[in-house]
Amino acid sequence: MRIALAGLGHVGAATLRLLQANAELLAERGQMMKVVAVSARDKGKKRDCDVSGIDWVDDVLDLAKRDDVDIVVEVVGGASGIALELARAALKNGKHFVTANKALIAAHGVELAQMAETHKVQLSFEASVCGAVPVLKMLREGLAANRISSIRGILNGTCNYILTRMESEGADFATILADAQKLGYAEADPSDDIDGIDTANKLAILAAVVFGRAPDLGAIFVEGIRAITLQDLRAASAKGGRIKLLGIATRNEAGEVTQRVQPVFVPLTEAVANVGGVFNALEISGDFSGETLIQGRGAGDPTASAIVADLVDIARGNRGYAFGVPAEKLV
Ligand code: HSE
Repeated sequence: MRIALAGLGHVGAATLRLLQANAELLAERGQMMKVVAVSARDKGKKRDCDVSGIDWVDDVLDLAKRDDVDIVVEVVGGASGIALELARAALKNGKHFVTANKALIAAHGVELAQMAETHKVQLSFEASVCGAVPVLKMLREGLAANRISSIRGILNGTCNYILTRMESEGADFATILADAQKLGYAEADPSDDIDGIDTANKLAILAAVVFGRAPDLGAIFVEGIRAITLQDLRAASAKGGRIKLLGIATRNEAGEVTQRVQPVFVPLTEAVANVGGVFNALEISGDFSGETLIQGRGAGDPTASAIVADLVDIARGNRGYAFGVPAEKLV
């Protein structure tokens, strides 16, 4: 499989490192994977990856036009702009498109899924929700037999990292946020993390896969963690719990879906309360499976694991509808 990589930030560089470090393993598990072209904003920037022997392309959209590319991987970010143009161009030109971009999928996922179906290529975005944790695969495949009544999760690594360190160290919000940025956890504009928008993007994607609802950010009540103080965290602790920023979606008997993002008091007796730092977690309640909980690293370099898992699926021929059902079925 010949891959073009758009974006060489933390996750892009980690993806390249993973593909190089585990090349033999990936060839055994799927097919040989070779990054043939890369594109990023600043060619001169020092990066934690080796691009020697790979074509550097100045205009990122050229990646979608190359005959020697089978899959375009996008880790540029943003709900529209270059990421959207690249997605459209890649799919139209018959390239598979793999992305970690939750803002793009929440805003344009249905259109892109339709395009992928029309052009008979794969659109995959496992890395867009919960970083390295294979939540979409679990929901689309492992739990596909269930009618799911609710999902509840910690979907933003930056917020969980901030809340965890505020509580454990009494550390200052701005200092911890700066660390989250250095570690590659935060969005380009970290207010997307803090104000719950990133969590809402991810919840919209999950709700599409679980409930067959077209992602609709307008349908989600969103409150972030900006107003949470150290006093709030201490008060929660005194009451035997923690405050977590949760994304919650439920479906009632009548089929009505409710989605919300908000800081929630979670008693320490619940597993989610003990998911700390950059870790994310998702609880799923299925009619036959009962409760399922999955957790792992939700941001930064480990996200590369989910991107490459999508590449392995494509290499193996494990393809399917991006949201688990045809795009036209999403309501
Ligand atoms: N800013 C996001 C987070 C990155 O902190 O979870 C991973 O989607």
